[in-house]
Amino acid sequence: MVCIRKATLADIPEIEACDLLCFPDSQIDQATNLSFFNDSILFDVVYVAEYDGRIVGYVIAYMIEEQPEEEKNDKVEDKEECREGYISWLGVHPTHRKLGIAAKLMTAAEKAMVQEYGCEYVYLNVPVSNLAAVSLYTKILGYRFHCTEAKFFEDGEDAYVMRKQLPGKQLDHFMLGFRHGSGCFWSETKAEFLGLLDRLEIC
Ligand SMILES: CC(C)(COP(=O)(O)OP(=O)(O)OC[C@H]1O[C@@H](n2cnc3c(N)ncnc32)[C@H](O)[C@@H]1OP(=O)(O)O)[C@@H](O)C(=O)NCCC(=O)NCCS
Repeated sequence: MVCIRKATLADIPEIEACDLLCFPDSQIDQATNLSFFNDSILFDVVYVAEYDGRIVGYVIAYMIEEQPEEEKNDKVEDKEECREGYISWLGVHPTHRKLGIAAKLMTAAEKAMVQEYGCEYVYLNVPVSNLAAVSLYTKILGYRFHCTEAKFFEDGEDAYVMRKQLPGKQLDHFMLGFRHGSGCFWSETKAEFLGLLDRLEIC
């Protein structure tokens, strides 16, 4: 049974081992990789997939930093901030692929970005030749093609930039909870709340 959970610093050696199998041609040295995983777990959104007590997949995502005040011109200042997240790393152990693990990891990261940061959009870069990942993002997870970035990857391969809209800042439970008779109802989302209202006969 697969368990998707937040990563801890103790997971780093196993994440690193999984990463080596997922990206065998990567030219990033081990020290850089380890420090990247360490910082990501401390500051970003990192989930792992555990199968029989062993880490078989991981996803790393972070929020794009808002533009510093001094770089904003008057025009941009009026614009509402858009909270954007970025999926920077995703890998599933070769022996555990095609079991839906990547889809579960991505969904957990997206949910955490919405709940913890009010993320409105998430985007990612995928090598144009990576048909498995392109299919995962477009057919299963609902990402849309945004543009192509030439020579984005270290080996010179182009990247598709893909983007997905997320619910953004959710109305909180207080806003969506209500009492009716002796009952008390709560809903996670506005749509669910409206559905609840539809099903109740309120005099
Ligand atoms: C891409 C990767 C993360 C997919 O992981 P996974 O756990 O096997 O993916 P899932 O089981 O969740 O697959 C979901 C969907 O992705 C697509 N997909 C996954 N593997 C595929 C493959 N080998 N060929 C075609 N489509 C594939 C399918 O649409 C699949 O849905 P389906 O099972 O209904 O056909 C995994 O192959 C991997 O780690 N690859 C190496 C690292 C990598 O490429 N990371 C992504 C970098 S952008």
